[in-house]
Amino acid sequence: MTPLLHALGVTVRYGALTALDNVDLRVEHGQRHALIGPNGAGKTTLLDVLGGATRAGGGRVLLAGRDVTRLGPAARARRGVGRIHQRPAVWSTLTATENVVVAALPNAVRPGRWRPGARRCAAERTAGAWLERMGLGDVGAVPAGRLAHGQRRQLEIAMALAGRPRLLLLDEPAAGLSVVEVARLVEFLRALPRAVAVLLVEHRLDLVYALCDQVSVLRDGRTVATGTPAEIRASGPVRQAYAEGVSLCCARSGCVPATPTGSCCTR
Ligand SMILES: Nc1ncnc2c1ncn2[C@@H]1O[C@H](COP(=O)(O)OP(=O)(O)OP(=O)(O)O)[C@@H](O)[C@H]1O
Ligand SMILES: [Mg+2]
Repeated sequence: MTPLLHALGVTVRYGALTALDNVDLRVEHGQRHALIGPNGAGKTTLLDVLGGATRAGGGRVLLAGRDVTRLGPAARARRGVGRIHQRPAVWSTLTATENVVVAALPNAVRPGRWRPGARRCAAERTAGAWLERMGLGDVGAVPAGRLAHGQRRQLEIAMALAGRPRLLLLDEPAAGLSVVEVARLVEFLRALPRAVAVLLVEHRLDLVYALCDQVSVLRDGRTVATGTPAEIRASGPVRQAYAEGVSLCCARSGCVPATPTGSCCTR
């Protein structure tokens, strides 16, 4: 079956630095696919290429078999790609509701049936529902810049989902969240319908193993392993990739490698 997302031979260079070197990645329809690897491995760069924010120097990106390599972020959003950034990307002077409305606009009506009033109305109807679903029902009128970090993160997820994606690109969604917020995030992602596939970049391997059915490991811009969580747990490359990039934080059973900030896992 044609995969939902297929990246072939993606290469990105920044001057002398090769951030991605001939990377292949396949995400199936409805799959929960994790992308892990040490700091600087190229994970965010790959999400940027898949979301259309960065134009690769080489390679192709196919979405449900269609070549989207030359399309920018807005065009990919219209084709069902939603993105959560490593640092929450919201419009700080707009209210939470307005942020979701703006994010939902590209997919609020079918192209060719555009009517300004109807378009905004349709987007507004979805905004309140998504905010409610993300536990932000009370802050719809609050400017996004005044929200706490965890709320901005939830808001960005609401914005991505309001665009009705079939693929959600999540870059370290748990970073900076409290234990309670992480638990809520995990519960929420688990409950997402399988109509939405997820590509999750995450350093916390406990979350990766709890949420994902497939894992790819990047190191120095190359894919060094792909497999089920059980296969990846047992694989030499993943241990090596992490051991060299991030020190193991403690010897507790099931403990994950330290986060980029050097802090230990929260358990
Ligand atoms: N705009 C840029 N200009 C120059 N170098 C860049 C740029 N963006 C990323 N890089 C470099 O490309 C490499 C990959 O960076 P990237 O942010 O993709 O890593 P990452 O795996 O997401 O790391 P982290 O886990 O710390 O978020 C790094 O060496 C980084 O310094
Ligand atoms: Mg990153």
